[in-house]
Amino acid sequence: MSDKKLNVGMIGCGFMAKTHSNAYSNVAHFFDVPFTPVLKTVCDLNAERAAAFAAKWGYENVESDWRKVVADPAIDLIDICLPNNLHAEVAIAAAEAGKAVVSEKPLARTAAEAEPMVAAVEKAGVPNFVSFNYRRIPAVALAKQIIDSGKLGKIFHYRANFLQDWTINANVPQGGKDTWRLNVKEAGSGVTGDLLAHCIDLAIWQNGPVKDVTALTETFVKERKNAVTGVMEPVGIDDACTFLCRFANGSLGNFESTRYARGHKALFTFEINGEHASIRWDLHDLHRLQFFDHGDEGTVRGWRSIHVSDGDQPYMGKWWVPGLAIGYGESFIHQFKEFLEGMACGKPAAPTFRDALETNRVCDAVLASAASGQWVTV
Ligand SMILES: NC(=O)c1ccc[n+]([C@@H]2O[C@H](COP(=O)([O-])OP(=O)(O)OC[C@H]3O[C@@H](n4cnc5c(N)ncnc54)[C@H](O)[C@@H]3O)[C@@H](O)[C@H]2O)c1
Repeated sequence: MSDKKLNVGMIGCGFMAKTHSNAYSNVAHFFDVPFTPVLKTVCDLNAERAAAFAAKWGYENVESDWRKVVADPAIDLIDICLPNNLHAEVAIAAAEAGKAVVSEKPLARTAAEAEPMVAAVEKAGVPNFVSFNYRRIPAVALAKQIIDSGKLGKIFHYRANFLQDWTINANVPQGGKDTWRLNVKEAGSGVTGDLLAHCIDLAIWQNGPVKDVTALTETFVKERKNAVTGVMEPVGIDDACTFLCRFANGSLGNFESTRYARGHKALFTFEINGEHASIRWDLHDLHRLQFFDHGDEGTVRGWRSIHVSDGDQPYMGKWWVPGLAIGYGESFIHQFKEFLEGMACGKPAAPTFRDALETNRVCDAVLASAASGQWVTV
């Protein structure tokens, strides 16, 4: 393990704080990273929750005011695992204090809110990174290698969906600790910023920039009780979103996301159809990549199901032994491996804040198109 320490200030202690803390704790056990992360301080509005989190994960200090963590000279990295409306303020303050900054996705609620974040980290010259972790699932990373090798040839179609079913019940409230995602003020948007942002990030990474979009959104439940005030309020988020797009490379995109697909908890899939070959991936079977190569001999031609668990496949050489799979949590270990290596070699790991701003721009265009009924240029 490197004796260069990197002191982490974790802001928030919910779902993502857990995945990131697990990753910081384990990354140096599996990868030869240039810094060893130290779980220094965890911060949550609720000090009791922060104390319980610190005890479980081994943080040395507990805080309830993120500004104190940002001002602490002992902290090297601020990791933002907060609801979307709080990313910008914390990230800008952290950059101005000269800290490295990791933000959960989406970078911000809108591109306009994200732009000053990009300006702040670039002005301060601090390492910055956005947690689009699905890039680092080995099968997804292998898909990227296959695309970059040119095996697919000219790309015609990019198809992705992200389906859930947890908000069908109209009694689920909006706002507050557990349901901030349903409150437009905190989340910025519904499935577009929450789920499609992942699909868009992967699509841009794998298939290049999105040129223009036409979208349809729906809010099935029009009013929900505010979890904090108890008052019924109009729902401002998109419950479902479908959009078509044109990529700069001439291919067509077809995306769908909803929280109203009964039976689906987190069905995230993408399929890419090229001139010579196609690939397909499914989060529910995340260690497999489906690959069809038209160049195979005709009698045995068909979809191959590649079990991505061998030492020469992305990241897998550092895990157990060939044939044994890893899962969701490890994607965060891989992303921090990339981030720490990027910090050391001066070639920042992607997606940086600037990279993630492009995803915010596509999300904005999708929502603008749904509102206007027109095609919108990104
Ligand atoms: N990469 C992914 O796959 C993924 C998955 C889930 C969530 N996310 C993103 O991660 C972020 C956090 O989501 P989550 O699921 O962890 O949410 P969460 O609700 O589980 O956790 C948020 C935490 O922030 C705390 N908090 C709220 N306001 C605060 C403040 N002012 N100061 C300190 N703490 C405060 C809450 O108490 C809570 O502990 C969101 O931006 C979300 O979009 C990303």
